[in-house]
Amino acid sequence: MSAGVAAGQGPEPDAPLISFEQVVRLHGTGAAAVAALDRVDLSIEPSEFVAIMGPSGSGKSTCLNIIGCLDLPSQGRYRFNGVDVGSLDGIGRARLRRAHIGFIFQGFRLLKRTSALENVEMPLLYRGVDRQARRAAASAALAAVGLEDRRSHLPEELSGGQQQRVAIARAIVTKPSLVIADEPTGALDSAAGEQIVDLLRRLNQTAGTTIVMVTHDAAVAGQARRIIRFRDGRIASRPSEPDCDDAH
Ligand SMILES: Nc1ncnc2c1ncn2[C@@H]1O[C@H](COP(=O)(O)OP(=O)(O)OP(=O)(O)O)[C@@H](O)[C@H]1O
Ligand SMILES: [Mg+2]
Repeated sequence: MSAGVAAGQGPEPDAPLISFEQVVRLHGTGAAAVAALDRVDLSIEPSEFVAIMGPSGSGKSTCLNIIGCLDLPSQGRYRFNGVDVGSLDGIGRARLRRAHIGFIFQGFRLLKRTSALENVEMPLLYRGVDRQARRAAASAALAAVGLEDRRSHLPEELSGGQQQRVAIARAIVTKPSLVIADEPTGALDSAAGEQIVDLLRRLNQTAGTTIVMVTHDAAVAGQARRIIRFRDGRIASRPSEPDCDDAH
């Protein structure tokens, strides 16, 4: 892991991979401002598998977008592997993302007229990896998700579960230290969803990849080693905290 090196700062050996200190994310201004995240403290260690749950609008995707360096806190500090992400410019954040973070979304987000293999090669193309090395790495990533025999298929020729497996191969082809997934099983039936979460769990166990996954599905979340629950932009103080507002 060398996020600090890539960002031109020294990584701290004992730092958590992800650290939020009093992170606030406001949308809108003045009286109309809404705090999508409200003074969130959060720490995730390398090789953790964490599920984020909570009602619609509670701040889950906002939190994941900040973790993935796609968005920035309005206040507070986010450190990735000891690096203050707020101190990086857009290019520095893009470099950090490309080097260390893989993304998986509910809607797969594959390129339509592009084969499975070429979709998986795409992050390596951005990194300037040569064609032969791209092919080899993308083939290995497709094999890791059990789709070596579908490499020439277009996304529309694949089932939803297969498309999400291609998206996982694309997310892991760069061997990222962190994979973030926003509702990765949300568009799939339960059998296909189970396969996806199995793959994520295996990735966490075999490669030690840190995984942070948002899900509404308690069975999917149950596969993670830790569940963080959001409510109104804040983390519920205890995992066992009752799920209703009128608990007192
Ligand atoms: N770009 C934006 N502009 C204004 N408000 C936003 C924006 N993005 C999010 N919000 C608000 O921030 C809050 C948190 O949104 P977020 O998308 O993080 O919720 P979520 O927990 O992911 O919900 P869901 O389960 O429906 O995906 C919501 O009240 C939402 O309306
Ligand atoms: Mg969301």
